[in-house]
Amino acid sequence: MCMIHRKSTKATPSPIILIIMGSTRANRLCPTLATWIAEIARVSTGLRCELVDLANWRLPTDDEPDIPALGRYVHEHTRAWSAKIAGADAFVFVTPQYNWGYPAPLKNAIDHLYNEWRGKPLVIISYGGHGGGKCAAQLAQVAQGVGMRVIPTMPGITLSNEVIQGAPVTPDKDLKDQIGPIQQAFVALTTALAEDRS
Ligand SMILES: Cc1cc2nc3c(=O)[nH]c(=O)nc-3n(C[C@H](O)[C@H](O)[C@H](O)COP(=O)(O)O)c2cc1C
Repeated sequence: MCMIHRKSTKATPSPIILIIMGSTRANRLCPTLATWIAEIARVSTGLRCELVDLANWRLPTDDEPDIPALGRYVHEHTRAWSAKIAGADAFVFVTPQYNWGYPAPLKNAIDHLYNEWRGKPLVIISYGGHGGGKCAAQLAQVAQGVGMRVIPTMPGITLSNEVIQGAPVTPDKDLKDQIGPIQQAFVALTTALAEDRS
């Protein structure tokens, strides 16, 4: 009998990377920056990211009776959020700095879960008048608290006063000199994802 050994043709599925937008504010800049960042990731590393808008995930504060680490969720919205995060391989938080911290909806979205975040790589990209480094540092500490592996390169996008006060921004033109650290962070994420698959 002739035994033919074929190489498996099964392709490795692409990693699921969620860009979670920190701002839910009316008239926010976040979707513009997050879309631009997803494109930088795609062009520089081939990684494809899905945008997650917390404004579409109605997660009331403190509405689950048990601590999230137990995973005993009673509300459908928490179960749906749990499935979304559990199904992802990595995360990118794109967030503004608000009063030296990060927006409350992002903390609330993190705190709704626990094990779903654990062990997964995270890129933190902040923005603000000085790049939002204070918010990024706080977020890194919280992310470590739930066991995420924070990529050390944390790009901070510096916005002009005009943009902060509502002037339109075209990231490809106005922020092009700030692309380098974002590319670096995604290269590091590629390495982290490759480690997870080896
Ligand atoms: C409540 C609030 C607090 C802010 N605090 C800071 C701050 O501490 N540092 C900073 O650089 N910019 C601060 N800003 C300016 C934001 O960085 C800027 O408005 C940014 O566009 C907000 O992101 P968003 O439009 O996606 O919500 C603040 C803006 C808001 C709305």
